This record gives sequence, C-alpha cells and structure tokens, in this order.
Amino acid sequence: MNRIAIISASVRTGRLSHRVALYFKRYLEENNLASAEILDLKEYNFPVFNERLRLQKDPSPAALEFAGKIKNADGIIIVTPEYNGGYPASLKNVIDLLYNEWHNKPVAISTVSDGNFGGSQVLISLQFTLWKMKARTVNAMFPVPRVQDAFDENGIPSDKSVTDKRASGFIRELLASI
Ligand SMILES: Cc1cc2nc3c(=O)[nH]c(=O)nc-3n(C[C@H](O)[C@H](O)[C@H](O)COP(=O)(O)O)c2cc1C
Repeated sequence: MNRIAIISASVRTGRLSHRVALYFKRYLEENNLASAEILDLKEYNFPVFNERLRLQKDPSPAALEFAGKIKNADGIIIVTPEYNGGYPASLKNVIDLLYNEWHNKPVAISTVSDGNFGGSQVLISLQFTLWKMKARTVNAMFPVPRVQDAFDENGIPSDKSVTDKRASGFIRELLASI
C-alpha cells in the first residue's frame, strides 16, 4: 500500500487549515487508498534552520526524522494556508532543509483560506519552489475557501459527499503519479 505523508504547514495559534490535513488522513484511510501520516509542523516546532540538513554538523533527531519521512513517502500532500499571497515561513523552512528527498517526489497541494478564494494565490509560488526542488507537483488542485465553515475541528466536512467527490479526483491524480 502506498504511503502518503500529509504536511500540515500552519503553526499559527488557533490555526484552521490543520482541519484539512485531518480530513485527508481520514479520507485516505476510510477508503483504503493509502496509509497516511500527518507531518505536523506545529508539533515539530522546528527552529529556523541555519543550514541544509545534509550540511549540518549535528542535526536534531526531529529534523532527521522529518527528512526520513519525506524520503520514504511515496507521495506527499501539502496543506498550506495562504499568508499575504504566499506560503508560511514554517513551510519554506522545511522545504529548504532538504534536497534529494524532494527529487521526483509526487506532491499534491491543498491551499486553504478563511475567505472566499481558497488560498488560490499561494499555489503558483509553492509549485515554483517545488519545481526548483525537482519534485513532481500534480496538476489537480484542492482549494478550500471559508475553511471554518467547510470543516469542523476534527476535520469532518460540512458537506461530505461534495467534499469526498472533490477529494477523489485530487487523490486519484496523486496516486496515479506515484
Ligand atoms: C499573516 C497572515 C496572512 C494572511 N493572509 C491571507 C491572504 O493573503 N489571503 C487569504 O485568503 N487569507 C489570508 N490569511 C487568513 C488565512 O486564510 C486564515 O488564517 C486561514 O484560517 C488559514 O490559515 P491557518 O491555517 O493559519 O488558520 C492570513 C492569515 C495570516 C495569519
């Protein structure tokens, strides 16, 4: 069975986009599509790294663990909020930490906002960075507008059939690119 790692990028107090990460984990497991693990950047609570992992003299066990999970995942879902039209520093911090781990890695991106546009402005800059890292971003999108209304705090969607239908196409594309 394929292993999918879900990066939950927001470390903000009171964050809402984590709900979407919880949803994807449950969706993948409920439908027996893949094994799923959330890599929660809030839980990792990484410092701002002062060097790439492979050049660090004494890397932390948590950074090594994170790198191993990216390397061993067959595919990645990144759930990112949009902050001022970009993606959060917490996410750039872990993208730049790694190098080979991203090569050829299938990545699907879900953008999240509390407004009406679903974080659509963040998509291109994140795709560009991942392209530079030689990852393989899939074309399918999963924008989540008004996340506070779309999912509860446990990641249960307010409209399960519509949300699952959208997720199905998004996940199918990710799995097909593995
Ligand atoms: C620093 C900051 C900047 C933000 N900029 C945007 C933005 O450019 N566009 C947008 O739709 N929402 C923006 N938001 C609101 C987020 O969409 C909202 O916080 C949403 O819940 C996703 O982020 P979260 O997971 O941290 O909660 C911003 C929020 C913060 C904290």
